[in-house]
Amino acid sequence: MSDAAVEIANVSKKFRIYHERNQTLKSAAMRRRRSIHEDFWALKDVSFDIPKGSNFAIVGSNGSGKSTLLKCIAGILYPNAGEIRTRGRLAALLEIGSGFHPELSGRDNVFLNASILGISKSEIRQRFDEIVDFSGVEKFIDQPVKNYSSGMYVRLAFAVAINVDPEVLLVDEVLAVGDASFQQKCMEKFAQLQGDGRTIIVVSHAVSVLRTMCDKGAWLNNGELLDVGDIKPLLNAFDDASRPTPHVDGIGRTRWGSGQIVIDHVEVLTADGLPFARFITSHSAVRLRLRYTANERIEKALFSISIDSSDGTRVWGGNNFESMAPVEIGDGVMDFTVPAMPLAKGDYTIDVAIFDWSTQRQLDLIKHVVQLQIENHGASESGYIALNGEWRVSESQPINGHG
Ligand SMILES: Nc1ncnc2c1ncn2[C@@H]1O[C@H](COP(=O)(O)OP(=O)(O)OP(=O)(O)O)[C@@H](O)[C@H]1O
Ligand SMILES: [Mg+2]
Repeated sequence: MSDAAVEIANVSKKFRIYHERNQTLKSAAMRRRRSIHEDFWALKDVSFDIPKGSNFAIVGSNGSGKSTLLKCIAGILYPNAGEIRTRGRLAALLEIGSGFHPELSGRDNVFLNASILGISKSEIRQRFDEIVDFSGVEKFIDQPVKNYSSGMYVRLAFAVAINVDPEVLLVDEVLAVGDASFQQKCMEKFAQLQGDGRTIIVVSHAVSVLRTMCDKGAWLNNGELLDVGDIKPLLNAFDDASRPTPHVDGIGRTRWGSGQIVIDHVEVLTADGLPFARFITSHSAVRLRLRYTANERIEKALFSISIDSSDGTRVWGGNNFESMAPVEIGDGVMDFTVPAMPLAKGDYTIDVAIFDWSTQRQLDLIKHVVQLQIENHGASESGYIALNGEWRVSESQPINGHG
């Protein structure tokens, strides 16, 4: 037996697309029930294993079949061909609208949802208070969920999903809906589940978040598996391929994004806000200042920065996921301050990007926007980091009694 939490073997899923060429009642009646349709394959012979205990990302452009695959794993959809085997209790947080029954109350949905997950009524009664508590929607628990905001909906669904102690948790983008404190709570829960060796399968368009959160992944394209494996090479390839419409800006830089926020300028400054003269000495304080213009209000703007060495190695990448906040229309500044720049002597280039976490859209991305020229006087070091270590050579001290 393999150590996979989920085995996906030759899975294909077909949808029927109906064409309504004639909308009149008469023509519909004349056609009787013989509707005109076409088969559309949303998944085509997809096979891969999801290792137990992994944080597994599923990426792909819009319509590539990610949500369809998650629904097949969750048992909400049935593949037309192939087989999916899962080991252990599974909980799923799928697209809004595919988990709960809109006419039922929050309370009834908790019980319904839990029973679908194979949890007994008495067990769920024991956990009910904890679930409602975690969700923060207690005031609305007896209201039909169709009256919930999308944030409330996700909170309740998430509370059920994690409080049933899943072995395998499926998460489809929905987290983008919650507010910052809820997202923080979710990330903490993920880390906890991960620590317990549970398997988490995440669908997201936020590459920089997946980079830090996941260790493995799969890439779907037009319903086909393009790649599966370690997260870094997978996301690098996906990232490069998923920028179909770059444009060249006024000063000849290639950039990608919808343009609701535009990065105007990136500056490399000292901690006092002054520009660096020529180079930066290792371990000095450095502030990267990104100036932008927001043409629209963005509810959750994710800023990310990455640093590559001149040989193309990604030395560091990070984002402000923990402190994401709304960006208002107008000009703004984002500062990223490094108290003691740990890079070793060499030339590095910086990529910056802004992503709309709510809509999962790239707003702007510029590669190689600025250079960092690092110096480290007197240090004989190779590699990418400056350890600031101290060398000391002295004569050997005799060990007592063995001199
Ligand atoms: N119930 C359905 N009936 C018909 N077609 C469907 C149905 N569900 C999905 N599809 C189609 O299957 C394809 C894959 O859809 P899916 O929702 O899995 O994509 P996705 O990768 O999750 O995309 P996104 O990134 O936009 O969420 C799309 O072309 C979609 O239109
Ligand atoms: Mg989807």
